[in-house]
Amino acid sequence: MKGLILSGGKGTRLYPLTYTSAKQLIPVANKPVLFRVIEAIRDAGVSDIGIVIGDTGPEIREAVGDGSRWRVNITYIPQTAPLGLAHAVKISRAFLGDDRFVMFLGDNVIQGGISPLLAQFATSDYNAQVVLTRVAEPEHYGIAELKADGSINQLIEKPKNPSSNLALVGIYMFDHHIFEAVEAIQPSWRGELEITDAIQHMVNVGLHVHPYVHTGWWIDTGKPIDMLAANSLVLQEIPPSIEGTVDAESRIEGAVTIGKGAEIINSVIRGPAIIGEGTQVVNAYIGPFTSIYHHCHIEQCEVEHCIILEHSEIVDLDTRLEDSLIGRHVEIKRSPMKPRALKMTLGDHSKVGVL
Ligand code: TTP
Repeated sequence: MKGLILSGGKGTRLYPLTYTSAKQLIPVANKPVLFRVIEAIRDAGVSDIGIVIGDTGPEIREAVGDGSRWRVNITYIPQTAPLGLAHAVKISRAFLGDDRFVMFLGDNVIQGGISPLLAQFATSDYNAQVVLTRVAEPEHYGIAELKADGSINQLIEKPKNPSSNLALVGIYMFDHHIFEAVEAIQPSWRGELEITDAIQHMVNVGLHVHPYVHTGWWIDTGKPIDMLAANSLVLQEIPPSIEGTVDAESRIEGAVTIGKGAEIINSVIRGPAIIGEGTQVVNAYIGPFTSIYHHCHIEQCEVEHCIILEHSEIVDLDTRLEDSLIGRHVEIKRSPMKPRALKMTLGDHSKVGVL
C-alpha cells in the first residue's frame, strides 16, 4: 500500500495568507495540516508516500524534507498546474505502480485518523473505497447517492437539489483500475479532471466502489472559518502539557499546552488553547480555542478563538480580538502618532472588522 498526498493547488480561498505560502503548511493547533496528514498515513502503517506539489513546492520540500522525521519515505511529484485531483493521480502513475493506495487531500483534517478505513480496504477486494460523511448543506459538496442495497448509484458535484446528505471526504482508496478511469474522462466545465468523474466511471463499468461512512468530524480547511473550526476541534483532543514558564500571578484553566521557552506573565489562559515555543504572553487574557504559534508577543490585550502565526505581535488593544486568523510577522499595536486613526498596511484580500 502507498500514500498519495495532494499538496499543490492555489489556495485562493485563503488569500492573503496563501499568496506567499502553501495553505497545507498553515498550522492547526500549532502543527501544519500537512504534517497531520503525513502522521495519519504513517499511523495507518503506510511509509511510502508521494506528495503532489505545485507553485509552493519549494516551501513544502523545505518543511517536509525526505520524511525521515516521521520515519517515512517521501517522493515529490511536481504538477505543472492545478488541473484537478484526477490529473494529480494521472501524473503519479510511475510512483504508484500497480500498488493499492490511499489518496489524502493535504488540506483535510479527520477525527480518529484513517487506520480503520485503510485496514478495511487492505483486506477487501474493493477496487476503490470512498469516505462519506453526513453534512448539513450538501449543495456545497460532492455527494454520493446510494442505492437501497448501500452501494453507490451516483456521485454528484455540488447538486442544486441534493438527493443525499452524504458528502465525499477528501480521502480515497484505489487499486490500479483508477488509471483507466482517469484516462477515460474529460475535463469538467472548470477545466479540471475531476476525481468524482473518474470514480463515477469506475462505478459505470461495474467495478466495486465501496462507500465508507465516517461518523466523527472532518474538516476541509479551504476557508478561514474552516481553519478556525478545525483548530477548535483539534485543540479539544490535545493532552495538555506545560513546558514553558508560568509566573505566580498567572492562571491556567482547562486544557492548555505551553511550548518550550514560552513565558506567561501576569495573564489568564483559558483552554483549550496552545501557546507555541518562545512566545511571550504578558498582562493578557487568552480565551478558549486559540492557537498562538511560536515566537509571538501578546501583551495587554484579550484574544479568543483565533489562530496567530509565528513572529506576530499583538500589543495594547482595548477591544478583544476574536474569530481571527492572523498571518506571520504581523504587528497589531496602538499607534502614538496623531491624528488618532486606524493605520494599516494590509495585503491584498485582507479582511478587517472595525468597531
Ligand atoms: P482544492 O481546495 O480543491 O483547490 P485549491 O487548493 O486550489 O484551493 P482554492 O479552491 O482555495 O483555490 O484542493 C484540494 C487539495 O488538493 C489541496 O491540498 C490542493 C490539492 N490539489 C492538487 O494538488 N492538485 C490539483 O490539481 C488540485 C485542484 C488540488
